Amino acid sequence: MPKLRVHGFSISLDGYGAGPNQDLDNPLGVGGVALHEWLFATRTFQQRFGRDGGATGVDDDLAARGFTNIGAWIIGRNMFGPVRGPWPDDSWKGWWGDNPPYRGPVFVLTNHPRASVVMGGGTTFHFVTDGIHAAMQRATEAANGRDIQLGGGVSTIKQYLRAGLIDEMHIAISPILLGSGEHLFAGIDTPKLGYRCTEHVASANATHAVLTKGC
Ligand SMILES: NC(=O)c1ccc[n+]([C@@H]2O[C@H](COP(=O)([O-])OP(=O)(O)OC[C@H]3O[C@@H](n4cnc5c(N)ncnc54)[C@H](OP(=O)(O)O)[C@@H]3O)[C@@H](O)[C@H]2O)c1
Repeated sequence: MPKLRVHGFSISLDGYGAGPNQDLDNPLGVGGVALHEWLFATRTFQQRFGRDGGATGVDDDLAARGFTNIGAWIIGRNMFGPVRGPWPDDSWKGWWGDNPPYRGPVFVLTNHPRASVVMGGGTTFHFVTDGIHAAMQRATEAANGRDIQLGGGVSTIKQYLRAGLIDEMHIAISPILLGSGEHLFAGIDTPKLGYRCTEHVASANATHAVLTKGC
């Protein structure tokens, strides 16, 4: 049975997965880019953007897991970009340039319909307007037996957590405080939903924890 997996989702020490006031200059909200410092430094991240170098070690090992046996992605519309409301045109194609790191089908949850966007490197963005279960069904079909990665953002992950659909979730706790923004676990009773921490390891840049459902 394919799994729904979250990988490398970064939160601050005070629990935020994004800072406030996302805009074109602040994809992760104000101050939020620091959440991903541990990831930017890794060899896996550099390679995904066609660059050499990057660090190996604990952070890289965890980052690399996020690209293993993944056949499709699901993300929320705010992770895809800063455009809100009905799409004014087709010009916004994500933050990631012509060759996004996904290299497969990406299902974007939104209330505003839009035609699919084919990008370089195998990534296609499909826009799903009929909810999380429909996105899951489409991603499962597209993944063809492989797992599905739930990329974020916070609201999207919370919906799938509450629905009990996430099998495994790697969070990276970065040593920063944000004070406000999008809080990952507020209002979510993870033990009651059947999750427990099955793995944890620290690097100089982050503390990594894996939450697993039903074990
Ligand atoms: N810390 C990390 O590792 C990490 C990872 C990924 C993203 N992020 C950050 O998280 C922030 C985005 O998180 P977020 O919580 O604001 O938003 P999000 O989960 O990315 O997207 C929320 C939006 O997606 C659409 N949507 C979500 N669920 C839907 C549903 N069931 N049916 C229809 N539409 C649905 C709605 O947009 P519309 O109604 O406008 O269509 C909703 O406002 C960004 O700053 C991003 O960079 C952080």
